[in-house]
Formats: sequence, structure tokens, C-alpha cells
Amino acid sequence: MNQFSPVSRPNNLDAFWMPFTDNRYYKSHPRLLARAEGMNYYTADGMEVLDGTAGLWCCNAGHGRREITEAIQKQAAVMDFAPTFQLGHPLAFEAAARVADMTPDGMDRVFFTNSGSESADTALKIALAYQKARGQAQRVRLVGRERGYHGVGFGGMSVGGIGGNRKQFGAMLPYVDHLPHTHNLAKNAFTRGLPQHGAELADALEGLVTLHGDTIAAVIVEPMAGSTGVLVPPVGYLQRLRDLCDKHGILLIFDEVITGFGRVGTDFGAERFGVTPDIITMAKGLTNAAVPMGGVAVKNDIYEAVVNGSADGIELFHGYTYSGHPLASAAAIATLDLHRSEDLPGRAKAMEGYFEDAAHSLKGTDKVIDVRNIGLVAGIELAPRAGKPGARAMEVFRTCFDNGVLTRVTGDIIAISPPLIAEKQHIDRIFGTIAEAVKAVD
Ligand SMILES: Cc1ncc(COP(=O)(O)O)c(C=O)c1O
Repeated sequence: MNQFSPVSRPNNLDAFWMPFTDNRYYKSHPRLLARAEGMNYYTADGMEVLDGTAGLWCCNAGHGRREITEAIQKQAAVMDFAPTFQLGHPLAFEAAARVADMTPDGMDRVFFTNSGSESADTALKIALAYQKARGQAQRVRLVGRERGYHGVGFGGMSVGGIGGNRKQFGAMLPYVDHLPHTHNLAKNAFTRGLPQHGAELADALEGLVTLHGDTIAAVIVEPMAGSTGVLVPPVGYLQRLRDLCDKHGILLIFDEVITGFGRVGTDFGAERFGVTPDIITMAKGLTNAAVPMGGVAVKNDIYEAVVNGSADGIELFHGYTYSGHPLASAAAIATLDLHRSEDLPGRAKAMEGYFEDAAHSLKGTDKVIDVRNIGLVAGIELAPRAGKPGARAMEVFRTCFDNGVLTRVTGDIIAISPPLIAEKQHIDRIFGTIAEAVKAVD
């Protein structure tokens, strides 16, 4: 083992098995981020890289925010850890109350997790527990959507609908079904905001009810699907899903791990899209990603049914050692303070038109087959290279990075989601660099 050294450039990349990474390529072409501030990362070589993706859709307030750092430091010095199983500490309660202030009315109970994946699995388990508590124990089926992403736990992966994320792992959870995705290039290409076509795709839920009867506990969707390449919900689609869930006694879960905390110009996507689910999952922007934390907000009657419907003692046999961790709670409170004092959703909304125009300026660029956007999110879809899906966009990603702009790629789609503090000059640079890169690659 080496003696500790503060040098930020490791000289051995072997030990870390990197997540969702082409390890062989990366380790022969490493890109090391060493520092971050405001809108920028800095590589180990000192190169400035404009963050076009808020890290992984998570640093909404920008990097290195002093208020968050200080809150974490202060809490670490006061109390590093406290269990929340049959105990508690003030910051966890305060953080939950702050979240409850932001979630839709009547959704005031918050369960803390450490990630989006844990939030998805927690929400699915709460849905099952709720159905059982209200005398509907036959409702054991969970419905997701094709192309959905709900993290990598067995629950989230099973209801998720990204083939590549499932194919190595066998049978998944039983009793799961999927709605069709809403992506339709033929009808909706180059839509600004919500696409016009596709509300009727929600009606597939009627078909699943016909098939499965009253055994469906919950439907989980991302109000805007991010990881699969930015699929904005068609006009009327989410409302139709809401109506059908109500009609058939099914809970509606919005996975707001990306759309939460200002990304689409409101606190949560539920508000922007005008549809209130029964459960909201969150993570990422909750702490500005400074400390891992996720959460699940549920309608009060769900909490009451589970808690009051059980015998004395523990009501929900679920939780994580780090649920409501003191450092994460401190980071969440400081982040939500910034969220309010700087009106991050309002900033995103005010910048949306400029961002949209900049994104759509890529229309007409050779190889670009779609641009779509909502809030401060844009998806730019490229025509795949014959026989090599994803290769073209990956080259664009690498070219942009070498030219000082961080983008994100999924298949042949480039996803852009800068910190919500982005200014016009940042947006110009992000889309200008992408335009050059798209032209430069084959
Ligand atoms: C909608 C959604 N759900 C869940 C997750 C998983 O979050 P995590 O990587 O924190 O487990 C993500 C991550 O991108 C996500 O976008």
C-alpha cells in the first residue's frame, strides 16, 4: 500500500471496477476529474470542462457550493452518524419536513434512502405494503414502462424497460408487466416541449388490467424519461394514466429522481405536468449530490394505512442503515435553502426558452434526426452508424469532452442537463461545441 499522498492523479486504475463504464477503453484512455466549481469541472491536468450534465443530472445548484460544504463540515464535527432505527436526530426530521413542504399537498410523509435505485425499490415495497394494509393483498403486480429507468436494484431493474440493463441478470422479479414507451420519431420529431402525439399509449393500462384483473398494485413511470434519452410525455398522457389508475385502484408512482428539484422549472415534475401521483421518488438534486441521499414521498393516507393498519411495533419492515444520515440531512437542508433563496426552478424556467432555441439550432445539422426538450433538459438524437449503434454519439461525447464540454450519451442520444445556474454563455458553448463535434465525426 502506498503512503497517503494528496496527489489527485492515481497511478493505478486497476482496482476500481467502474460502474456503467467501458472499463477496458476507459483505463487505456482515462479522463480524471479532480476539482469542480460553479459550472465547471477541472481535470487532473488542469483542463476546464463545462458541465453540460450537472454531473449525472444531480448538481442542480452548481458545484462546490459553500453553503452546502459548510453544513456538511459542521455536522460531521457535531455528530458523524446516528441510527434512525428506533432513534433519531433532529436534522433527519427537519430535512423530511423541508421535502414535504415542496411535494404536492397531502403528500407529507418522507422515507429516506441513499440513492435513486433504493428510492424506486422502496416505493414499490411501500405500494405493496399499502395494498395489503387496505385489504387488497392480491395486488402484487407492478407495472413499469418500456425504456423506463428506475435504477439497478432488482425491483427497479424489473419494472425498468432498458433491455441492456437486464440482459445479464436472468429472470427479474415475477409479476411485472410494462406499458409501451412514448417515443415516436415519425410523429413527434423536433417537438419543443410536450409532443402532441401519444396520449392514447396510456390506454395500454386498460389492456393490462384486462389481462391481470385486480392484481396490479402500482404503475411506476418517470414523468419525463431521462436516462433512456429524454422522452418528454405527450400532451395528456400522464393525466390519462392518472385517471386509469384511479379507475382501477392502482397507485401511480412518479420516479422524479431527475425531474425533481427544479430540473423542469418547478419543484417537481408533478407540478409542471399538472398531474399528482400517489408516491414520488427522488434523489440526486436533493443534496446537490454532495452526499448521497434519496427519498420517497407518499400521500398521507398511504402512510396512515400502513402505520395504523399494523399491529403494535414496527409498521414497515424496511430501511437502510443510512436512512436520514446526518451528513446527508445537513446537505439536503442546505441544498433546499439554496433551492429557495436562489429560486432554482424559476431560473430554469426563465432560461428554458433560450435553452430550447439553442438546442433546436442543431436541427438541420447533418446526422441529427431529433431534438426534444423540457425545462433545462434536451435530447439530441443522431442517426446511428450502420451496424454500430451508439458509436457515433460516443464519439461526439469524447470529442466534446476534449473540447472542454461534458455531455452525456445513451445509445445515439446526447442528453444535456446543465446545472440550473447556467447562463446564456454556457448554453451557447454547450450547443456550439456539440454542433462542431457532430459535424466532425463520421
Ligand atoms: C429516474 C431515475 N430513477 C432512478 C435512478 C437511479 O438512481 P441512482 O443511480 O442514484 O441509484 C436514476 C438515475 O439516473 C434515474 O434517472
